[in-house]
Amino acid sequence: MSIRAVRGATTVKENTKEAILFETGYLLKEIMEKNSLKNEDVISIMFTATDDLNTAYPAAAARKIGITNAGLLDYPELKVAGGLKMCIRVLMLTEAIVPQSEIKHVYLNGARVLRTDLLRDENRVAVALDGPAGSGKSTIAKLVAKELGFTYIDTGAMYRSVAFYCIDKDIDYNNELEVISRLDDISITILSTKKEQRYLLNGDDVTDLLRSPEVSEGASKVASYKAVREKLVAIQRECASKQSVIMDGRDIGTNVLPNAEVKVFMDGNVEERAKRRFEELELKGITTTYEEILEDIKKRDYNDSHREYNPLRRAEDAVLLDTTYMSIEEVKDYIVEEIKKYLKEE
Ligand code: DC
Repeated sequence: MSIRAVRGATTVKENTKEAILFETGYLLKEIMEKNSLKNEDVISIMFTATDDLNTAYPAAAARKIGITNAGLLDYPELKVAGGLKMCIRVLMLTEAIVPQSEIKHVYLNGARVLRTDLLRDENRVAVALDGPAGSGKSTIAKLVAKELGFTYIDTGAMYRSVAFYCIDKDIDYNNELEVISRLDDISITILSTKKEQRYLLNGDDVTDLLRSPEVSEGASKVASYKAVREKLVAIQRECASKQSVIMDGRDIGTNVLPNAEVKVFMDGNVEERAKRRFEELELKGITTTYEEILEDIKKRDYNDSHREYNPLRRAEDAVLLDTTYMSIEEVKDYIVEEIKKYLKEE
């Protein structure tokens, strides 16, 4: 057994003792159930409440549901402009067998959002799909988008477009200053048709030129430059503000769309990911070897998760999906179900 931290939050409709204790108790029970925890596993719980809730201490709810031995403490929540109102947040320290990355954090009654001023239009849904290269994100995202009528946005293709521009114009993509000095000359547009997405680089359709190992390596490099990320993230957010999207990448759940309604982090064994990517490239007629792809993916995994700005990381509220032994259909169905569950809750 090791100590794990579980996060949770909920909102309350009215500032009454009954409402505060009921919603907090319900949140705690959900946290325990989702993580298969027993009352005796809980070591301590910290609670925060916004200053519009002052008729009860949320911690009292823990005692009410039988968590008798844990250390409890209530705090006021920091006041931040636009912060959610009537909100209770908890941080539970507990003994658990599963690793921290498999802990399920629980957000109820719209409390995943931190700031209402970052909320998106109610009628639009954003699905953030993150994970390392070859985890199957784009295949799955396309299928989910088709089934639910969402727009698929492949953010990797944008980083690839910048790398392609550099290679095409003989700019050394390893030279950050040189790349940044040319950023204003790069315009990326996504053309969405019902059937597919086309990526235009300064008006030219480059969609079919973005998959070579050289462009992959360059994309991972230019993606580590802050100015490149800022430019592309602005385009990505703009796309998501106009329509329901499923967006795949590395930092969608953590940075581009932190308030996405559904977040999934897809992972998988590196050999299996390399095998899939190799087969995909073979079908496209790109000549390479499995070993070359494996090396490329390992290198990119390292670069993408160790860079300073918005590295590849699972958002704490993202569902973790190891796709090594799952079929495409199974992964697609799982994500569609997650989205439908969200739509029903609303
Ligand atoms: O998903 P992909 O293999 O097409 O992405 C190409 C590279 O772009 C990848 O190595 C990391 C980078 N990338 C990123 O840093 N952030 C994103 N949101 C998407 C891709």
